[in-house]
Amino acid sequence: MSALLEIRHLNAWYGASQALHGVTLSIAPGEVVALVGRNGSGPSTLARAVMGLVRCEGELRFAGRSLADLRTFEIARLGLGYVAEHRDVFAALSVHENLLLGLAPAGAARARGRAPRFTLDDAYALFPVLAQRKRTRAGVLSGGEQQMLALSRALLGDPDLLLIDEPGEGLASLVMQQVAGALRLLRERGVAMLLIEQRLVIAQEIASRVAVMGHGEIVFDGALEAFLERADVMHEWLGVG
Ligand SMILES: Nc1ncnc2c1ncn2[C@@H]1O[C@H](COP(=O)(O)OP(=O)(O)OP(=O)(O)O)[C@@H](O)[C@H]1O
Ligand SMILES: [Mg+2]
Repeated sequence: MSALLEIRHLNAWYGASQALHGVTLSIAPGEVVALVGRNGSGPSTLARAVMGLVRCEGELRFAGRSLADLRTFEIARLGLGYVAEHRDVFAALSVHENLLLGLAPAGAARARGRAPRFTLDDAYALFPVLAQRKRTRAGVLSGGEQQMLALSRALLGDPDLLLIDEPGEGLASLVMQQVAGALRLLRERGVAMLLIEQRLVIAQEIASRVAVMGHGEIVFDGALEAFLERADVMHEWLGVG
């Protein structure tokens, strides 16, 4: 099967400092890949590079199309959703207004030849707390509610691939389970994901493949089952065990 997202020999920089060193990684349609690594190893930079938010060189292709020279909003419109690590929501806008901003432009569904997979009603059904707080300013929501809002907003863009950076960070385990449930539903609807986590909490339930980063490189890439047998990889690159 041809890859949905294809990253080849990617280098990325912040000013003069190089953060990614020859990263090669691909994701098939509907596939869920966990991307893990110690603090500062580079997963967030990889997601930002795909979205055109850091200076990089190498090959980035989505659905066969090169992402080089595209602006972030153009990359998003191709079907790439991104939930950044600090789940930024528009604090001064209401929950509902935040969701409206995520809606794919009317022409986008037609251009892609199918109805969108997610509607506003879906978002409110998935996270009833957002429906209850529809008119509340996003800035006063709890961390968990903001994560649900950021995730819902990305879904309304109808992504074929969602890049989601540490969705469980700082969440109580009950809220984390809710977010995990939503991600499972996305997978069932055929949305591919690159799920960044430090500790494979959610990823272990929904990912079929694990990629590990160390010092800006991919140091392991394989099936979840194969990863779980690699105590050496976990020890050396994640500091586990
Ligand atoms: N805005 C920035 N300016 C300069 N260097 C940065 C910037 N953001 C990240 N870096 C550096 O790039 C490297 C990779 O960072 P990145 O945030 O991708 O890693 P990460 O594993 O996602 O980190 P975290 O554990 O904090 O989520 C680190 O060395 C980091 O210090
Ligand atoms: Mg990060």
